[in-house]
Amino acid sequence: MLTSRKVQISASVLRADLTKVDKAVRICEDSGVDYIHIDVMDGHFVPQLTFGNKFAADLRKITKLPIDVHLMVNNPAIFIDDYLKAGADAISFHLEADIHVNRTLNVIKAGGARAGISIVPSTPVAALSEIIDIVDFVQIMTVNPGFSGQKIIHSSIRKIKELDVIRKSQNLSFEIFVDGGVSSKTSGELINFGADVLVTASAFFDADDPKKEAMLIRAGGSGL
Ligand code: DX5
Ligand code: ZN
Repeated sequence: MLTSRKVQISASVLRADLTKVDKAVRICEDSGVDYIHIDVMDGHFVPQLTFGNKFAADLRKITKLPIDVHLMVNNPAIFIDDYLKAGADAISFHLEADIHVNRTLNVIKAGGARAGISIVPSTPVAALSEIIDIVDFVQIMTVNPGFSGQKIIHSSIRKIKELDVIRKSQNLSFEIFVDGGVSSKTSGELINFGADVLVTASAFFDADDPKKEAMLIRAGGSGL
């Protein structure tokens, strides 16, 4: 059964036609999504190379939608300042890619953005124990990061529930983002397990009617 919580959507422009980025942004705005998600890949932490901080700064000039930067890079700490200056509203980086995670999270927060930690499918929730009380959000990857259009890894979904139990038992207020394989077919289970923000690339941008797909994702596929 779906809860009445308001689920938010972060639309990843990785899947958009980037020769027409204005159009992609208008699709996001017209569809009522809550964030624009930028997948920053460095060719090392993940196989592909994508955008840099200039792309984030340029997007900042053409939309008021909050910008959610997902850093899939090694040594993310050295890039934080660039994305703060670019006007990012939320920045997440990978637990697997940083050593001084506590410090990096605090740099993001001190810069005025929401600080998130992402974990890949092979990283357990238990690895978050020492920083869980300072994060603004945890982003559970339900695919191995690097590409859009992958099938959701079902075993990762239970981590949403584990995190939801932790936040309730410790009286914490971090949000749970889920990234990878999100669609109107998969969102119901993700929402029921406790997801607050659903990141979507292919299901949203490949849809004939992205606004309808966003509505269905939010509604857990049922249309409610
Ligand atoms: C994967 C990225 C995701 C990706 C999601 O490495 O972090 O944000 O774009 O793509 P879909 O929604 O197609 O799985
Ligand atoms: Zn992402």
